[in-house]
Amino acid sequence: MKILVVGNGGREHALVWKIRQSPLAKDVYCAPGNAGMAGLADCVPIDTSNIIEVADFAQTISADLTVVGPELPMVLGIGDEFQRRGLAIFCPSRAAAEIEGSKAFAREFMSRHDIPSPRYVICSSREEADDAVEKGTLGYPLVLKVDGLAAGKGVLVVESKAEAQAAVADMMSDKKFGTAGAKLVMEEFLSGDEVSFLVFSDGSRVVPMVSVQDHKRVGDGDTGSNTGGMGTVSPSTSLSLDMHKQIMQEIILPTIGGLSAEGRKYQGVLYAGLMITDKGPRVLEFNARFGDPETQVIMARMRSDIVPILQGVAEGHLKESKIDWAKEAALCVVLTTRGYPDAPDTGQEIKGLDALQGLRDVMVFHAATGNRDGKVITVGGRVLGVTALGANLDAAVQRAYEAVKKISFDGMHYRKDIGQKALARLHAPR
Ligand code: AMP
Ligand code: GLY
Repeated sequence: MKILVVGNGGREHALVWKIRQSPLAKDVYCAPGNAGMAGLADCVPIDTSNIIEVADFAQTISADLTVVGPELPMVLGIGDEFQRRGLAIFCPSRAAAEIEGSKAFAREFMSRHDIPSPRYVICSSREEADDAVEKGTLGYPLVLKVDGLAAGKGVLVVESKAEAQAAVADMMSDKKFGTAGAKLVMEEFLSGDEVSFLVFSDGSRVVPMVSVQDHKRVGDGDTGSNTGGMGTVSPSTSLSLDMHKQIMQEIILPTIGGLSAEGRKYQGVLYAGLMITDKGPRVLEFNARFGDPETQVIMARMRSDIVPILQGVAEGHLKESKIDWAKEAALCVVLTTRGYPDAPDTGQEIKGLDALQGLRDVMVFHAATGNRDGKVITVGGRVLGVTALGANLDAAVQRAYEAVKKISFDGMHYRKDIGQKALARLHAPR
């Protein structure tokens, strides 16, 4: 088969790495890819937001399957464009992807289908937002979200009325988020353990993946700005078998069924960002795509061939009812540039990559990397995802951090505590 992967992050490198292991994959292409993917696939310089050009390319090479990583082409309707041309694509339609594209739509959808969520208010104007802050019915801390894609940066948690007023002004009037700031969703703040729960769905059948825990804040001990994700661990140690069942019954199946019933048949990955509260699981958000860096640990643990699964989803006939997973634990530590997420300082040469090539239990997935004069350099905030498998979580943590120490670039930053919360839970007396 000829398979095209759209994207240039660590998630897409992990997908290409996994697809490459399939006996079904003959030619693999990436649009646009990165320095790491270039070793596994033919990279073509097409911007992911240029969905027509991507479709033209897929048509030219007669791609048997195209797999989309990032949210932007998805929300721009790349799924519909491929469908229209009769090209197979692993990506939900634009209508289905609205579950991620609009936080207001997603919240109203969850209310219609009784999917456990925090209390919320949707504000369509500055007046409505000011009014909601004045009434203060959701209490503090309060979560404010711009309605639209903001690359993980459109969410603020405020502690007081004064902070809420300032945040509303920032998010709605100053147009800091462009059109993404036209509507605002205010939510009750939930506490608990955060879990990423991803499933494959062909529109009716659903196959869950292993659970993952992301680390969203830039600094150790969950401090500093929210980011796209600084590291992941799988399995999550906060999901019991019963909780897994409850999530499937109360959240995942009603979402896939509800979308179908509303004429938004869901074919792709549904990624639920959940808070496990003391009252049960609650949806923080849905994403219509693989997570990044969730995919790095998921691919590291997946034993089944991924290609028939991707193909089954794309064609609407998912035959696999179960996926084989490694019993081992996996950890991914994201290495970022100085200044990430606000102002990444790029262009540094990355050293030490050769020492980590060809290892069985350590994979260095590239994200924002490029080439300059034959050297691998940093080209964006999240640079590499050092991923390791271990017989248990302790071993995975140790192996991943040993590998991290072999890599260096000027201004390199990473969290030193990825997996520590999960370990603490695992070792806590019961
Ligand atoms: P989202 O993009 O909606 O997932 O929000 C980004 C991050 O903000 C989440 O991963 C959570 O850490 C946090 N968050 C979002 N909504 C809430 C909420 N209602 N209560 C507590 N934290 C939240
Ligand atoms: N790691 C968070 C995300 O992919 O949205």
